[in-house]
Amino acid sequence: MLPWFRRILISLLVVLGLALALPSPATAQTNPAELAQAITAIEDLDAMRSGLASTLEGRTEPPTIETMKAVCKPVGMRAQQLSQENGWQVRQVASKYRNPAHAPATASEAMALTKFEQDPELTGFWERDTLDDQAGTRYFRRINVEASCLACHGRKGDRPQFVKENYPQDLAYDFTVGDLRGMYAVFLPDAQQALEAALSES
Ligand code: HEC
Repeated sequence: MLPWFRRILISLLVVLGLALALPSPATAQTNPAELAQAITAIEDLDAMRSGLASTLEGRTEPPTIETMKAVCKPVGMRAQQLSQENGWQVRQVASKYRNPAHAPATASEAMALTKFEQDPELTGFWERDTLDDQAGTRYFRRINVEASCLACHGRKGDRPQFVKENYPQDLAYDFTVGDLRGMYAVFLPDAQQALEAALSES
């Protein structure tokens, strides 16, 4: 789908979803503006990965180690930056992970992956959750495999040398286009609680 179209579609879904979800007490503390901001940030993050991966397509000369390394690692670094800037926790999660830090870490992450696996039409959703006893909202967004991903996530034997060497526990191969690759998982702590947590730490 075209990125702008996807963005408009997602914005519409958010507005509709919030309109339906907000009257219920369970979601009363979700801050719609902050959730919308997180959703946009994740769309940008995903577009960044697709953009970087597509630069490897159609090359005549073999890509150098530097260009090879410059696709998914920067996405992880940007996720960390988003976490620090906003007080969120932004993660990439996959059952077939390359970096073991991206294995599902909570029951809600494992359940979200199952949900995406079972429903290929599901792009994203959010729910109330807690993280370290802190209440908040979790936003999950699916990541699908595109043709440009296969250079590094395709057949096991075809993986670049640096992947074989640096990721001995790698499980993120043998994908085909359209497969579920994983998801982004964002935790947005409720404002009041985030403030209290910050005060109690200072
Ligand atoms: C040039 C090689 C390369 C390409 C192309 C590539 N990846 Fe990756 N991918 C990696 C590496 C290396 C990691 C591990 C990065 C790290 O240590 O954080 C990774 C990690 C990931 C992760 C994080 C979860 C995990 O398994 O650790 C996701 C999600 C992901 N890739 C999706 C994609 C998607 C979607 C595409 C295509 C749009 C893509 N990748 C293209 C090399 C690549």
